[in-house]
Amino acid sequence: IGFTEKQEALVKESWEILKQDIPKYSLHFFSQILEIAPAAKGLFSFLRDSDEVPHNNPKLKAHAVKVFKMTCETAIQLREKGKVVVADTTLQYLGSIHLKSGVIDPHFEVVKEALLRTLKEGLGEKYNEDVEGGWSQAYDHLALAIKTEMKQED
Ligand code: HEM
Repeated sequence: IGFTEKQEALVKESWEILKQDIPKYSLHFFSQILEIAPAAKGLFSFLRDSDEVPHNNPKLKAHAVKVFKMTCETAIQLREKGKVVVADTTLQYLGSIHLKSGVIDPHFEVVKEALLRTLKEGLGEKYNEDVEGGWSQAYDHLALAIKTEMKQED
């Protein structure tokens, strides 16, 4: 079972919608992460020292955008090539930054759930099983690539 054109289109379409309001959705995304796993607060430099999820924080927005955008790019690759290709240097960087920051495998499930909840919030009635399936599959592939790299650097 490969990644279909329809799934790719749905993922791209939904990212286009969320992209319209990065400040709002990045805030929602991080609020969800902390709701699911309050302890994750200590991992992020921009959350560690503040009581609330900071509004309009460039680093917070950058991380949210990276997760969504790279998942979207993964969806495109899965459809085009049937596999995920992240440039070696990028993957090494992702592996080392997460390892260094104290991220462990279960955190990836937390972020996945937060991503899906944020999509649900942003898409409203446009959110459905197909959208969820497309994003889930793409995210799982990307997360696996990062986790594998983290193990190699260990
Ligand atoms: C940093 C991407 C998942 C925690 C970064 C950076 C990137 C990135 C590109 C470098 C800084 C930046 O550009 O914002 C991703 C992607 C993910 C993912 C694509 C999943 C597909 C996670 C997860 C966690 C996490 C699951 C833990 C809950 C962090 C932390 C940093 C970081 C703590 C350091 C940022 C700081 O403290 O300033 N990530 N990440 N990431 N990531 Fe992730």
